[in-house]
Amino acid sequence: MRPLVLPLGLLVTLGASQGFNGDWDLAYTKATAALAKLSQSDKIGLVSGIGWGKGKCSGNTGSAKSINYPSLCLQDGPLGVRSAASITAFPAGIMAGATWDRDLIRARGRGLGEETKALGIHVILGPVAGPLGQFAQGGRNWEGFSNDPYLAGVATEQTIAGIQEGGAQACVKHYILNEQEKNRETMNSVVNDRTLHELYLWPFAEAVRANVASVMCSYNKFDGKWACENKRVMDELLKKELGFRGYILTDWDAQHSTVDSANTGLDMTMPGSASDGGNVFWGSKLQSAVSGGQVSSSRLDDMVTRILASWYLTKQDSGYPATAIDRQTKNGGPNVQGNHSTIARAVARDGIVLLKNTDGILPLKKLKSIALVGSDAVPNPKGINSCQDMGCNQGTLTMGWGSGSATLPYVSSPADAISARAKKDGASVTLSASDTASQGASAAQKADVAIVFITADSGEEYLTVEGHNGDRTNLNAWHNGEDLVKAVANVNKNTIVVIHSVGPILMEAFADLDSVKAIVWAGLPGQEAGNALTDVLYGDVSPNGKLPYSIAKKAGDYGTTIQSTSDNFGEGLYIDYRALDKKSIVPRYEFGYGLSYTTFNYSNLVITGSPTSGPESGATIPGGASSLFEGVATVTATITNSGTVTAAEVAQLYVGLPDSAPETPVRQLRGFQKLSINAGEGKTVSFSLRRKDLSYWDSTSKKWVLPKGTFAIDVAASSRDLRLSGKITSL
Ligand code: NOJ
Repeated sequence: MRPLVLPLGLLVTLGASQGFNGDWDLAYTKATAALAKLSQSDKIGLVSGIGWGKGKCSGNTGSAKSINYPSLCLQDGPLGVRSAASITAFPAGIMAGATWDRDLIRARGRGLGEETKALGIHVILGPVAGPLGQFAQGGRNWEGFSNDPYLAGVATEQTIAGIQEGGAQACVKHYILNEQEKNRETMNSVVNDRTLHELYLWPFAEAVRANVASVMCSYNKFDGKWACENKRVMDELLKKELGFRGYILTDWDAQHSTVDSANTGLDMTMPGSASDGGNVFWGSKLQSAVSGGQVSSSRLDDMVTRILASWYLTKQDSGYPATAIDRQTKNGGPNVQGNHSTIARAVARDGIVLLKNTDGILPLKKLKSIALVGSDAVPNPKGINSCQDMGCNQGTLTMGWGSGSATLPYVSSPADAISARAKKDGASVTLSASDTASQGASAAQKADVAIVFITADSGEEYLTVEGHNGDRTNLNAWHNGEDLVKAVANVNKNTIVVIHSVGPILMEAFADLDSVKAIVWAGLPGQEAGNALTDVLYGDVSPNGKLPYSIAKKAGDYGTTIQSTSDNFGEGLYIDYRALDKKSIVPRYEFGYGLSYTTFNYSNLVITGSPTSGPESGATIPGGASSLFEGVATVTATITNSGTVTAAEVAQLYVGLPDSAPETPVRQLRGFQKLSINAGEGKTVSFSLRRKDLSYWDSTSKKWVLPKGTFAIDVAASSRDLRLSGKITSL
């Protein structure tokens, strides 16, 4: 077995655990000097989109010759540059989240940023920190990383750092409480302040902390007011409380007013008009509002300064390439893939989660015959990019649908990759690339091993796929996947189920069947699907991903469901594992769970630090009050690989707050580290807890407060596999 290799030497230099290292003060000095050279119409141009269907990109602003400022080009999206011809289609956010690997997530971001820059695109519209995942059925959860705010926060931070190190401006979206696709443009979200801070705002706060250049405000209302004209959302929370120094732009057509949006903190409108030419709120209208005094010229200057500062922060003012794509002429630009397929494969491989493995059926041994069953085993027979924005579930599922999709340069399909590998071993392969149960059973009947592929898809609401209007209507496998698995398992005692899905699916119909020897969650792997899967199935790499959400036994166990006109977030802090833990509901597979081809022992817990209790303090820095980011305790442990193969383990740190805090989930993720460990060796895992990680949001004082008393500390292999327990006592 090969040792677990990180994809590139480059990772060594990327290893820092913080966000983008940018100098806002310097950027503001330059921006302020540049502002002085701009005319009023330059300023209006810089903050206004030029209109839908105009310009080279999905979004474009005016330019300013006097300072060599280009027409800013903004383009989707979170897993690859959309509308570009020859980019890397990376694994989706949820797959990156499942790696729990900071360096790899950063490398993925860097690849995205480098390709964005190489195409002369200034702003890439990602990463996704919302939806967070209030609803398991939420159509766009897969674009983000996890429904745990801590894991999502770290992945958001690392992705932004990577994108901006690659030279592009990141745009974290969709801010905020845009948790479902249904009625997303009219939905009213109402949430209590504590839930807002501890769940939904958390990853955005980490984005600000990571020095993100821009934030996209969302379609929905917050407390009855549109997010993009909401003082609390933009001015108070993002700019004042979190100290955000970049600019806020609208989601496409999410603006509803000229004056209110300007005066509540919006800095840029996109795309500037709707497809029918309507929805023009800035441009000349903003000009009149400034002339008429309804919007102050200092507010306009502030918008422009923020936009310019982000441009300087990411050093786009010198040597940035000219925009090389053109949506109008359908020019997809040059090939900018570089060697990023290596990173794409590593993420697709290391995000795979092994859920079940009985009798050590995996890794595959030398076999005489293999059956591959299901339409997900092969590329879409109509063409890998034949459906608009991936709005179909045909052939192997590599990503969900909508603006978060990208053009596949190629796809390594499971059938191709496994067949190539089987050939080397002299094994025969029988393929039934259909979801019809009887056909699958007849293909599987005589094979040593049968691998059944099933899927579940979702996406953005402007496309409806097989009755799912963005959000999933249920959590079942698509195409009668359960029946397919059962039919195969009925005739083959060595059935392996591979799931490509946007999120959890219900698997009670087959998970306990004796013939179902293994279940592999292979997520949304992008272009390297088959190669990555083969790496794991054949044991070139021991599986090392862990679930970024819980897989419940029934949909109702999650305790939340898609809403119709208004979402009051009544479950509060209790989503996903927080809800299951509270209600003592046993899931099929819990958050943080994932098997390996080896075993790990946890020992030698050492906890140092006695934090002082009390509220946050200090000046506001990007991310919030400065004291929140001070290290207040350190937890270390030894993880020993007690098996026979090299493998990586994701050790997790869960915290329970003392009784003096208001009611809080029994344990919450507040640290993790992935370590590659040789067989028989031990390594030290180390978690540094920040004041914020031990605090709750006090809605009365409107501050983070570190409670007095004893905190429960668990170092764990999953949210329910607690290996070492200790305590921290605050003073
Ligand atoms: C709407 C989507 O919500 C957003 O994510 C995307 O960036 C824009 N459309 C532009 O395509």
